[in-house]
Amino acid sequence: MATSYSHESIERLKEQIDIVEVVANAISLKKTGANYKACCPFHGEKTPSFVVSPDKQIFKCFGCGVSGDAIEFVRKFYNLDFVEAIEKIAKDQGFTLERTKYDDSRDVYYRANKDAARYFVRSLLSKPNVAMDYLLEKRKLSHEMITKFGIGYADEKWSSLYNHMKALGYGDETLAELGLISIKGGKKYDRFRNRVMFPIISTSGKVIGFGGRALDDDGAKYINSPENPIFHKSNNLFALNFAREYLRKEDYLIVVEGYMDVIGLFQYGVGNVTATLGTALTENHGKILKRYAKKVILSYDADEAGRKAAYKGVDILRSAGVEVSVLHVDDGKDPDEYVKLHGKEGFLKLLSKSVSGTDYQLRHIARGIDLQTDEGKIRYIRDIAPVFEKLSPVEREVYAQKVGRGLKLDYNNILSQVGKERTDHRERPTRREENVASREMTATEKVLLKIIFMDSSYFVKLREHRFADSAIKTDLAKEILNLIQGEFSESDGFIDEKKIKDAMDPADGVKLDNIIKGVPVVDVEQTFRDCMRTSGLAELLEQEKRLLDVIAIADEEEQSQEGEKLQLKLMDVQKEIKKLRGGLGL
Ligand code: UTP
Ligand code: MN
Repeated sequence: MATSYSHESIERLKEQIDIVEVVANAISLKKTGANYKACCPFHGEKTPSFVVSPDKQIFKCFGCGVSGDAIEFVRKFYNLDFVEAIEKIAKDQGFTLERTKYDDSRDVYYRANKDAARYFVRSLLSKPNVAMDYLLEKRKLSHEMITKFGIGYADEKWSSLYNHMKALGYGDETLAELGLISIKGGKKYDRFRNRVMFPIISTSGKVIGFGGRALDDDGAKYINSPENPIFHKSNNLFALNFAREYLRKEDYLIVVEGYMDVIGLFQYGVGNVTATLGTALTENHGKILKRYAKKVILSYDADEAGRKAAYKGVDILRSAGVEVSVLHVDDGKDPDEYVKLHGKEGFLKLLSKSVSGTDYQLRHIARGIDLQTDEGKIRYIRDIAPVFEKLSPVEREVYAQKVGRGLKLDYNNILSQVGKERTDHRERPTRREENVASREMTATEKVLLKIIFMDSSYFVKLREHRFADSAIKTDLAKEILNLIQGEFSESDGFIDEKKIKDAMDPADGVKLDNIIKGVPVVDVEQTFRDCMRTSGLAELLEQEKRLLDVIAIADEEEQSQEGEKLQLKLMDVQKEIKKLRGGLGL
């Protein structure tokens, strides 16, 4: 149970404060025109570029770029968190904030995970067992690492953890949601059995989930906690809580594939290392990594899966604005084995040989192409065009020269060729562009129109469907539906195809005609449902992505109340996604 201040109360305080007064309490301000000015307190400067606007109630420094409202100023200036800042302002203003007893429903999940983690640790340490033997002898882990990472043991019995957690008072539903137990046909049993347990800890130090590595050949090598209200795989990275301590010394992060790689490297003193939680890198991971480091080195396994993942990872990190380079170990299968063979110095030496993301992608594409032959060269130039597409003009020139040298071709030709491939590429509009103000309807829209002309009752069904806006996006489709709407109300549900076509631009009329004649629909009801589900799903996935973004920020800002609200929203969205996915058989 966390206490906090009521939302209304904070809003009232916000209305009452004047940013000029708040800032003037801290630094001296000079009035210039409509605004106030000062030398920026957040960076050293001699001429004032720090502006406070009484109209907009914000500050902005045109020197260093900081900006925000009064609360933001107090947070920054006095180095406070949000709640502390609110409290300080309230005190200065003689304002009484109303406390609300605020129940963060996620607390029980955090507590349960923490209790489970403790239980696993105790099982590992209390008496001799296979997990400890495995860690010490087979994996050569030190006791120090086992303790630091909170590694534990889930024994082979079916309800050790369940009994323990039940005795502590946790409900079955909570345990099942956290993925600690499974419930099948009314039977409840431990989901993690005979596994080494790695707790996954958020940057704020909470146990948000587990990865369990098998000690025998039963089942998957790893089982991870499922997505749940406190565990979002695309919002967290393994051991980032430790890694960020090392970032004061280093300005780059190493991203590896496995939990064991992270721990292995740590043991040898390489601490600026992290891993995803059993998933590929996502855009969200890119954003998180960018917050912590300017540069990322991807060090994935040397197998085909690792190479493919690294190739995609480069794209993701590059578009997040992170400088990225790649290396694969050339001895052993992964960084964990490599560092055990060659030590820290050996690994660092290897790191210094990592290649830029672009070089890596260009080399990756060259694999399997015989660049000695003319056909090979031509194919290669064609295949690397998408890589060039993402580069800046300068980079494009540099890499074109490099490729030209390698292939003994004039780099100008390469540049113009990849440029050509690029425009060819660009001519195909992206999905998003297609949606905006376009007269090219989507496949879904065409099918839906066809259905409406087959059975006009679907016009009403579509109009009243909650995902109608997600399904109908292009201008032309909207126009046609408007015409149908007019026709519909005039004629009591009968749609006169000819009248509608006559009202349209002839070229558009032909398009509609092609749809009515050419789009095949067999099971009308089923097809309609599928169209709406797919559109809804796309919309919800987009919403999910946006929510994950803001939740990450709310969490970072320790705005637990806001975070909680967003979490609830996210859960709803995710529940719906699950439902829709189920319906689609995905
Ligand atoms: P690895 O198989 O490389 O595991 O998978 P590892 O961590 O290096 O372990 P060791 O050294 O072989 O014992 C890399 C990561 O992929 C995820 C886990 O996050 C793992 O750490 N993974 C792997 C799964 O989620 N499920 C699996 O079945 C396998
Ligand atoms: Mn591995």
